[in-house]
Amino acid sequence: MIFSPKCLAIVVICCIGLGSCYEQTTCRQVSLISIASRYREALIPRQIKSMTLLRRYTTFPCIKYFSYGFYGPYAWVNRNCRGLFRVCTIPGATRLITCSSRGNRVATCSLGRPIKSITVKYHLSRNPCVLNYSYRLLGTRLQVYNNCMATFAVGY
Ligand SMILES: *[C@@H]1O[C@H](CO)[C@@H](O)[C@H](O)[C@H]1NC(C)=O
Repeated sequence: MIFSPKCLAIVVICCIGLGSCYEQTTCRQVSLISIASRYREALIPRQIKSMTLLRRYTTFPCIKYFSYGFYGPYAWVNRNCRGLFRVCTIPGATRLITCSSRGNRVATCSLGRPIKSITVKYHLSRNPCVLNYSYRLLGTRLQVYNNCMATFAVGY
C-alpha cells in the first residue's frame, strides 16, 4: 500500500470514564460533497461521536472510513462521496498538539488535563503514528516513539 497520511489518519475515540461518551449528545444534518475525487472536510466545531449517511447524492459509493469519516471536530468526505449525513456530537473543546519523536527517541508532550479523544490530524513524519505502535497515552501525557511526528487533535 502506498503511504498516505490521509489513509493513516486512523480514528481513535477513547472514552475516559463511562459517562463521557453518552452525555448530552446532539445531532445535526450536514451536506458534504467531494468533487473530482478531492478530500473535503467541515469543522463541526464540537467533538464528533458518530457520523451516519442519510442520503447519497450521486451513484459514487460512500464507504465509512474510506470515502467519509470524522476525527475530533472534523467530518470529511473523499473519492467523490456526496451525501447528507447525520453528525452527532458531544460537548467539548479541541486543541491541536504537535509531538515529535526523532532519531528513534521517545518524546513526551503534556496534554494539560484529562482528555476524551485523540486522533492524528497531520502526519509530519514518513513513519506512521498509530496508537500503541508509535504513540500512547500516559494519563494526561502523550508519548510518541518509533519516529512518529504528528499534529494531534485532542478533545477535552
Ligand atoms: C492501547 O493501549 C491501552 C493501554 O494499554 C489500551 O487500554 C487500549 O485499549 C489500546 N488501544 C488499542 C487501539 O490498541
